[in-house]
Amino acid sequence: MSQEDGSLEARLEEQDTFEPPESFVEQANVSDPGIYEEFEENWPDCWERAAEFLDWEEEYDDVLDESDAPSYQWFTNGKLNASQNCLDRHVEDGAKNRAAIKWEGELGETRTYTYGDLLNEVNEFASTLRDLGVEEDDVVTLYMPMVPELPIAMLACARLGAPHSVVFAGFSADALATRMNDADSEYLITCDGYYRRGDALDHISKTNEGLEDVEHETTTVVVDRLGDALEHSLSENQHDYDELIDEHAGESVEPVSRDAEDMLFLMYTSGTTGKPKGVKHTTGGYLAYSAWTSHSVLDLKPEDTYWCSADIGWITGHSYILYGPLALGTTTVMYEGTPDYPDKNRFWDIIERNRVDVFYTAPTAIRAFMKWGEQYPAQHDLSSLRLLGTVGEPINPRAWKWYYDHIGGGDCPIVDTWWQTETGGHMITTLPGVCDMKPGAAGPGLPGIDAQIVDEAGEEVDAGQAGYLTVQKPWPGMLRTLYQNDERFVNEYWTEYSDPENDEWVYFPEDGAKIDEDGYITVLGRVDDVINVSGHRLGTMEIESAVVGVEGVAEAAVVGGDHEVKGEAVYVYAIPEDGSEPGAELEEKAIEAILDSIGPIAKPEEVIFTHELPKTRSGKIMRRLLEDIASGNELGTTSTLRNPEVVDEIAEQVNED
Ligand code: WT7
Repeated sequence: MSQEDGSLEARLEEQDTFEPPESFVEQANVSDPGIYEEFEENWPDCWERAAEFLDWEEEYDDVLDESDAPSYQWFTNGKLNASQNCLDRHVEDGAKNRAAIKWEGELGETRTYTYGDLLNEVNEFASTLRDLGVEEDDVVTLYMPMVPELPIAMLACARLGAPHSVVFAGFSADALATRMNDADSEYLITCDGYYRRGDALDHISKTNEGLEDVEHETTTVVVDRLGDALEHSLSENQHDYDELIDEHAGESVEPVSRDAEDMLFLMYTSGTTGKPKGVKHTTGGYLAYSAWTSHSVLDLKPEDTYWCSADIGWITGHSYILYGPLALGTTTVMYEGTPDYPDKNRFWDIIERNRVDVFYTAPTAIRAFMKWGEQYPAQHDLSSLRLLGTVGEPINPRAWKWYYDHIGGGDCPIVDTWWQTETGGHMITTLPGVCDMKPGAAGPGLPGIDAQIVDEAGEEVDAGQAGYLTVQKPWPGMLRTLYQNDERFVNEYWTEYSDPENDEWVYFPEDGAKIDEDGYITVLGRVDDVINVSGHRLGTMEIESAVVGVEGVAEAAVVGGDHEVKGEAVYVYAIPEDGSEPGAELEEKAIEAILDSIGPIAKPEEVIFTHELPKTRSGKIMRRLLEDIASGNELGTTSTLRNPEVVDEIAEQVNED
């Protein structure tokens, strides 16, 4: 590191407000501070600004229909098709030869799809799906890693008006079956395998295992990613992707006209109970919102090359690898593998080679990069970067500053974007061409987003006080319901702070937060039994039910403990059954059960056996205490416990390991 960088770093340490550079502001898509007021005064008509990013086959009547709140309807009676909006119109506008997707495999192979290429293959695959029997409104499950056929399949579904339900490829066979059963999904697009740290991973065996538990007939299409590296055979009702595409070469399908409120996709996410929630997003509101936030927050322009390092299997990938960027006609980069293969230069090499303008990643990744050291990014020309983003969990100021300095070279604004699977797109963040940045605080609510921090009674808290994050007005990207479960939708999100009798509805995202005197919000984390491991949301109840299913385990409690890189890590406390031996074997079984029911992302940091769990006098497990033990925090008073003596016993074990 040079002398100059050293002093910059020292200066950064102390600084807590950063202005966006003039050069950024000058070119920013949004740079007028008046936008906040403009949205407030014109609400809800301000959201026409978002709808204008789309091509509507038929204009909508009203921006918002609140008559059935909290089942809000946006852009009523508008008609459009998402694949037409992401592809056809750009090709018609002369962008046929512009790169839409620049894909890179882990072993180094690359594939570029221009908007013209992508439209052709989406058409061919849509025609294929139609021949296989897919009709409008059929839910198609996509269980695929980061291969170009994943976004192609998503857009092909959108073209037919068949909602997709993407299941993250890292999820287990069980997780796949649960989701296909819940959605009655009769079609599955999957892949033989993919590369991870240079190894060919078998995905098709896991798929087939999952299919055994699907309660209805299914038709499957398999993408051959690995060729000779993994032999696989197809059973009846399973088809090879390439063969089908060849058979449908040159065919096209008219984009199906969809109502703005028609479902574009389902995305399952973890909640407080054991059963994942099927979040429903719509064609008009979601697409308008992801395009608008890609424009205003990510500052994307058609000539940009943009890279979001998330997996398309999560909402981040849906909104900000695929739909938002392609709705704007941008070039989106897609990378199959890990950041440390073949070595720790990989991400910086991708940015340098592709001259990436805007880069969007997660705090957990940034903390890993910090640990690896600045020598890796320092060897690369990252001067193409104009803007950086983070998402998924709170970012600590030290990681923020490292990102700002070593990746952004001290002259790229950073957007710390708070949002959720349910919100469809960004909610709380700075507008990079308008706002100053404060490391650690996401920022104010976006224009039109009425975010408030309230106390238990729903009253706004004073600046500096911690409280609960709420959103007091609806927005176009919001979820519409939980799949076939309107009741759970209302219970989960619209109960705590709403006043149904007066028809006042407040959205509760289940996060704690505080706000400062400038209206900047610092998100503190979940206040429910959901934990955030490396930016991934895991329900502790889901993990618990896997562990108590193990023979020899009587009771279990799962909590999140602090982790330097992952943010939080999974800690399992388990009571063995009488006569069952706690030890390596039982631990192994508990871990297996978690991997089988969820997948490697839920792998516990530690499994702690104890003969009792700390409980209150009324018999409730003291989770807070278990979290503190896992995090190595100072333990508060245990005098309210029925069994305070177990605390030391457990704490000793955790500290030993
Ligand atoms: C939860 C949502 C949004 C896509 C990725 C995660 C946490 C998300 C931030 C941020 C602090 C954040 C919240 C939220 N979260 N972004 N910038 N700062 N916390 O989506 O799986 O639906 O999880 O992630 O706790 O509720 P998700």
